[in-house]
Amino acid sequence: MKIAILGGTGSLGRGLASRWIKSGHDVLIGSRELEKAIEVAISLGLEESQGMLNIDAAKACEIACLTVPFAHQEATLLSIDSSLNQKIMIDATVPLMPPKVMRVQLPQEGSAALKAQAILGAETTVISAFQNISAELLQTDKEIDCDVLVAGDFLEARNVVIELVKDAGLTGWHAGPLCNSVAAESLTSILIAINKKHSLAHSGIKITGH
Ligand SMILES: NC(=O)c1ccc[n+]([C@@H]2O[C@H](COP(=O)([O-])OP(=O)(O)OC[C@H]3O[C@@H](n4cnc5c(N)ncnc54)[C@H](OP(=O)(O)O)[C@@H]3O)[C@@H](O)[C@H]2O)c1
Repeated sequence: MKIAILGGTGSLGRGLASRWIKSGHDVLIGSRELEKAIEVAISLGLEESQGMLNIDAAKACEIACLTVPFAHQEATLLSIDSSLNQKIMIDATVPLMPPKVMRVQLPQEGSAALKAQAILGAETTVISAFQNISAELLQTDKEIDCDVLVAGDFLEARNVVIELVKDAGLTGWHAGPLCNSVAAESLTSILIAINKKHSLAHSGIKITGH
């Protein structure tokens, strides 16, 4: 698929990009700065033309993935206007509000994914995923001992994202409607707390019973 990663110059964006490139997807790196997008695209082995402004990547893609800090989620989504209408957008945003990142803090919309859906409107299907995966591990070839909870209001769109999760070398699970994203988003603060208190680098979650 032609996948635009909005904020694709950051840690998670580069991690997902490298995995999807390896599995044969056509990845577009989006940024606020064209030069930065091109530089990262080239560093990932892509063509110069695959580095773009976020809005151009959003226009050109079949599916987008948002990987920017929560504080910049709204501005980034407003900047792409209606470019994602009739498309799926995967939202990986965790509503961390530094400095208290080990505390679950939620936006008034209920979750970052619900906020994204409210900003984009019903023309775009927001599916939430990847909140609990380490960006650092995604940038390696290592097997990642963490599953991905995929929440969204449309089964077919969740299926598309679960396939992309598989293409990134991970297992995705149907986690119910978009409002359930609050659980995955909240778990990230718990995993950060576990990492700190138990001196772990990359704690994760696994679904058992299968
Ligand atoms: N890091 C992880 O392990 C991880 C894991 C799961 C989920 N997440 C979530 O994924 C999202 C991205 O995390 P990250 O660690 O990849 O973030 P990051 O590296 O700090 O930033 C990602 C990108 O966001 C853009 N950005 C930075 N400041 C901005 C601003 N003021 N306005 C608009 N855009 C700005 C930048 O892109 P440009 O400068 O190129 O525009 C930057 O490269 C976050 O919501 C995070 O909670 C992260």
